Amino acid sequence: MSGKKGVIAIDGHSSCGKSTVAKDLAKVLAYVYIDSGAMYRAVTLFAMKNGIIGESGIDEQNLKAQLNDINITFKYDADAKLNETFLNGESIEEEIRGLEVSNNVSAISTIAFVRHRMVELQQAMGKEGGIVMDGRDIGTVVFPNADLKLFMTASPEIRAQRRCDELMAKNPADTSISLEAILQNVKSRDHIDSTRTESPLKQAEDALVLDNGNMTKPEQLQWILDVLKERNLA
Ligand code: DC
Repeated sequence: MSGKKGVIAIDGHSSCGKSTVAKDLAKVLAYVYIDSGAMYRAVTLFAMKNGIIGESGIDEQNLKAQLNDINITFKYDADAKLNETFLNGESIEEEIRGLEVSNNVSAISTIAFVRHRMVELQQAMGKEGGIVMDGRDIGTVVFPNADLKLFMTASPEIRAQRRCDELMAKNPADTSISLEAILQNVKSRDHIDSTRTESPLKQAEDALVLDNGNMTKPEQLQWILDVLKERNLA
């Protein structure tokens, strides 16, 4: 980015390929990639494992008391484009992508004190620049002065199909994977993410919209690189 290492904020709906494009971009620009959704997923897993999420909902008092014991770190291999998330030193990358965490994460991410803590950690990660971060509130709350803000989207059906293909590719023998269940999860997360009071998912005024429903991965990446060039940022 013309000498200076900038900040690129990528927001948008769930399962629309934000992380894929963010990783590609980080590799081309030699930036660090941070998956902010993985942080909310890590808190959710912590809550599930520590009896904080139960039949009667979330024990917020208990979560608040333990919030500072939750240490989230990443190991990112830019060449392999592999990002691994760790919770208190233990790799949780597989576990946080499952449907159980996916079904609970929106509720955890509506809690104000959780969001404040995550935003604080994210801002600390980006303070030197040279970062591509994806999420829901990156351009609006975490980095309102980001050098480039993108808002990505695609139809719920396209997103559910992609997510289903991904899960099937990882676990071909898993007969419990259902496109209908995934579509419901995508729609319900869209609803919760965009209607919550605390930092709802919304497009920043100065964000560029990228609807990738009919775009290939290389086309998306090129589209962003063209914007960066036009703005003299790459
Ligand atoms: O990007 P993802 O699907 O892994 O995100 C998981 C959940 O976390 C999603 O339901 C919304 C929430 N999230 C959020 O509220 N704010 C962010 N910056 C990132 C994710």
